[in-house]
Amino acid sequence: MSQEIIRSTVVPIIYLLSTVLFIFGIKQLAKVKTARRGNTIAAVGMLLAIIGALLELGIVDYRWIVGGMALGTIIGATFAIRVQMTSMPEMVALFNGFGGIASALVATSVYWDLVVQRGATGTVYEALGTDEAITVMLSILIGGITFTGSLVALLKLQGKLRKGQPILLPARHYITFGLLFGSLAFGGIAVAAAAGDSVVWVLALSSVSLILGVLLTIPIGGADMPVVVSLLNSYSGLAASMAGFVIGNPLLIIAGAMVGAAGLILTQIMCVAMNRSLLNVLVGGFGVADGAGGGGSDEYTSVTSCGPEEAAMILENAESVIIIPGYGLAVAQAQHAVRELADLLKERGTKVTYGIHPVAGRMPGHMNVLLAEADVPYEELLEMDVINPEFKNTDVVIILGANDVVNPVATKDPSSPIAGMPILNAHEARSVFVVKRSLSPGYAGIKNELFEYDNTMMIFGDAKKVLQGLIGEVKDL
Ligand code: TAP
Repeated sequence: MSQEIIRSTVVPIIYLLSTVLFIFGIKQLAKVKTARRGNTIAAVGMLLAIIGALLELGIVDYRWIVGGMALGTIIGATFAIRVQMTSMPEMVALFNGFGGIASALVATSVYWDLVVQRGATGTVYEALGTDEAITVMLSILIGGITFTGSLVALLKLQGKLRKGQPILLPARHYITFGLLFGSLAFGGIAVAAAAGDSVVWVLALSSVSLILGVLLTIPIGGADMPVVVSLLNSYSGLAASMAGFVIGNPLLIIAGAMVGAAGLILTQIMCVAMNRSLLNVLVGGFGVADGAGGGGSDEYTSVTSCGPEEAAMILENAESVIIIPGYGLAVAQAQHAVRELADLLKERGTKVTYGIHPVAGRMPGHMNVLLAEADVPYEELLEMDVINPEFKNTDVVIILGANDVVNPVATKDPSSPIAGMPILNAHEARSVFVVKRSLSPGYAGIKNELFEYDNTMMIFGDAKKVLQGLIGEVKDL
């Protein structure tokens, strides 16, 4: 088959197939049941995309490509195998950063090859074409911001940068806006500059974009990083899409646009579920305050606690139990233990369901993924709108490492940092057990008045250990 036919017929078909697989894969990711298959389908789409690109390029040095793919596979597989479920946002942050820098490097290499290497005469836009020249600069800008922004997000999530606290430079808004305008100006000058003089402006643009990524991310509290990571994910898609325009690759444009849109939609979903605007996340310093807000003193005065034995006695007579998982369940890795307890209760004739809050944990779908790992039946996981009317007819609610998502203050105190955030109405049940290690606050850093309610009993301890205790007691009933 001639190279001409490969380029004009085979490659577009491969790209089309690959696009369909991406769309189908993303669609399947929407449900836990089909998510694994969706991931595999999208990975096959990516493999086809690579094959298509290699065929399109024709004569390339395969040693570099094979070497690059082997290195990428080793790094990617090592991260994916080693990462803990609670560190997933960190891995996503790192991969976003890699995506951003890859797009910036692709754009830079096109500029370098067509303008510098070939010693182009005239201006950069004459050498590249106006549209391409602009997308090269935008790719470098967005890719650079995504790269350093993601690295800062990673360090903050790991608590390695001032323990995740916001770093607020004096006059930071002026500096940031100054640099943003500066970068646009450098990009504009680079596009219009004579080819020979443009290198210095492209270098200036690259440096400023890297600094901007740091400056835009350091003022945000570590607790807000999941939202920022999702936003950076969207940026990385945008940068990839730009790179697609630069190299004239329709698949990269489509895939990048899909990532950009998906990241933006996810960011919006998180903000709505927390009842916060994106602007509030980006400049708010949420979750890092001294615990103020949320209704008066942060001291607890009338907390009742019990042990697994007492809890098991109440569970013995319960006809219905709702389990509410939260971030602490993921920290304790207690998903298998909770499944075991639920199975024991069901064997005794108790109706067991799970109440899933959209922002429980630290990433979208965190609880669904965690419980799916322990093969908890998907039908038992009920979303907030479905489960909320059930609480008042429920005998026992067991809250496992959740805090903010069951805090009634959200519905009562407009001055609370979580005011307006929809919550799971656990407090309406006849008895509520809250399993956590102490009275420490959750992500929002505020007191939870549920812990002082008459129908609430705290069971202090690591979620997994408490569940193991409960399992032993229920077995002895
Ligand atoms: P949180 O309010 O963060 O509370 C988690 C609780 O788990 C803590 O109070 C902690 O108390 C407890 N805990 C930690 N380790 C534990 C262990 N080993 N065993 C038992 N308990 C343990 O969690 P949540 O209710 O899931 O709420 C999620 C929060 O994250 C919300 O405020 C939400 O807005 C925010 N957020 C979520 C997302 C997404 S997309 N999910 C994104 C950004 C922000 P102790 O230290 O006393 O044990």
